[in-house]
Amino acid sequence: MKKKFYLTTPVYYVNDVPHLGHAYTTIAADALARYKRLKGYEVLFLTGTDEHGDKINRAAKEKGISPIELADQVVSHFQNLWKKLSISNDDFIRTTESRHTQVVSKVFQRLYEQEDIYRGTYKGWYCVPCESFWLEPQLRDGHLCPECGRKTEKVEEKSYFFRLSQYQKPLLDHLEHHPDFVLPPSRKNEVVKFVKRGLKDISITRLKLAWGVPCPIEKEHTIYVWVDALINYISALGYGVNKDRFSTFWPADVHLVGKDILRFHAIIWPALLMALGIELPQTVFAHGWWKIKGEKMSKSKKNVIDPQEIVKQHGSDQLRYFLLREVPFGEDGNFSTPLFIKRVNSDLANDLGNLLNRTIPLVVRHCGGKAPSPADEDKTLEEKIKKILPSLDEAINILSFSEALSCIWEIVKSANLYIDRCAPWKLANQANKQKRLNTVLYNLLETLRVLALLLFPFIPVSAQKIWTQLGMEEDLGSQTLDKAGVWGGLSPGTTVKKGPPLFPRIEQ
Ligand code: MSP
Repeated sequence: MKKKFYLTTPVYYVNDVPHLGHAYTTIAADALARYKRLKGYEVLFLTGTDEHGDKINRAAKEKGISPIELADQVVSHFQNLWKKLSISNDDFIRTTESRHTQVVSKVFQRLYEQEDIYRGTYKGWYCVPCESFWLEPQLRDGHLCPECGRKTEKVEEKSYFFRLSQYQKPLLDHLEHHPDFVLPPSRKNEVVKFVKRGLKDISITRLKLAWGVPCPIEKEHTIYVWVDALINYISALGYGVNKDRFSTFWPADVHLVGKDILRFHAIIWPALLMALGIELPQTVFAHGWWKIKGEKMSKSKKNVIDPQEIVKQHGSDQLRYFLLREVPFGEDGNFSTPLFIKRVNSDLANDLGNLLNRTIPLVVRHCGGKAPSPADEDKTLEEKIKKILPSLDEAINILSFSEALSCIWEIVKSANLYIDRCAPWKLANQANKQKRLNTVLYNLLETLRVLALLLFPFIPVSAQKIWTQLGMEEDLGSQTLDKAGVWGGLSPGTTVKKGPPLFPRIEQ
């Protein structure tokens, strides 16, 4: 039986079209999902949309349409963008689907019956853009949201509460015994500090909010959008409905989130799961933010970059590569067009593009377009690859995508050095060097074949093109590293095909 891997992104709010920050979480998750498939796992990669709550309700009102009409419009922007970015999600959940709302309602009912939820009165402040409750001492300047700095609204109403306070000790125990539960470690330390300061019960329903899952105990109340949204990770697996699917994939291997929503995932979510008696996910990984001139990219700051534009101008792989290579995953990064162009030109156009564009024409010219048979024992590139593969695996397993790409680039650079050093164009002019020429060209083609495989998680469209230029007929997406990653997979005699340059240089 295949090993399973369950990986999620957050469900995205549908009050506005996606920006580069949203694309980041999804691209990173996609790279991990693709790599795990290459490693032979049966992967379930889930993404989706968070469609309830005040924020969406108000955005719809402003546009003069119903919330579900707004959700339908915006969800298609997300789905189209994911297609353009080659996102290979296996499922897409909308929190307005009945497969989800039914589970939310059942979970609430059960927690109420077992007295993890009780009725009380909420007095405090609410930030609509963050959909977050705050207490007075937490506010900035007396009335501003401590998270986003925008105005909060005073709320005093009957509400249902979740006994989060009871889970302080179990959460601390879990954090202590599962060092990988929250990553990177610096984020884990933040969570531990926060939990140690004490957890209060949290209000989990709102009155007078029509757009959400109705509370099954009292229909005038609506379930808090964050509780609703978090449950997507189990409702998508058919929790309480489809036992087989649920037990096949749960617990999740990785919940990938941005650092702004870590507390919901590392405190509220595990506490809810504990209350339900469900095993906790293996890892919640919080990545950093993309910023523009030092400020978080966000709609409210009006500084968002539209990923569609970059894809249209330069290609989706270029964007995927830049986001995953430029900044160590977990840290913040600054986006700027010059940085993007510099990275794409140096790594993709120069290093990788040139390697391919130098190798294939030489094979066409000097070997009749067919992969030659290697004639001597030159293991330079084979050994390099063998040495790199374990480090690459290690890097991806801790979600160090930039490190993983830098491992792959060690192979690219070695192959470029090899071609310079062996100078096959010179060998081609020497009558007694045909055997050596064959070896050198075979080694370069074979390295490119392994590179296509390793690059598939990161730049899938280009990796497929390299694969096709090498004359490989089987679908790249169905390969596994165990089999196809072994040196010698390219059969001598295979016809290679010259193609247009994969990564044209971007002019400033
Ligand atoms: N709907 C909630 C998530 C509920 S999950 C149970 C939400 N949605 S969101 O659309 O606002 O954000 C989704 C993801 O995008 C988050 O992981 C967030 O960190 C990420 N990003 C939004 N802006 C970002 C940047 N500027 N940079 C990097 N990622 C950021 O939160």
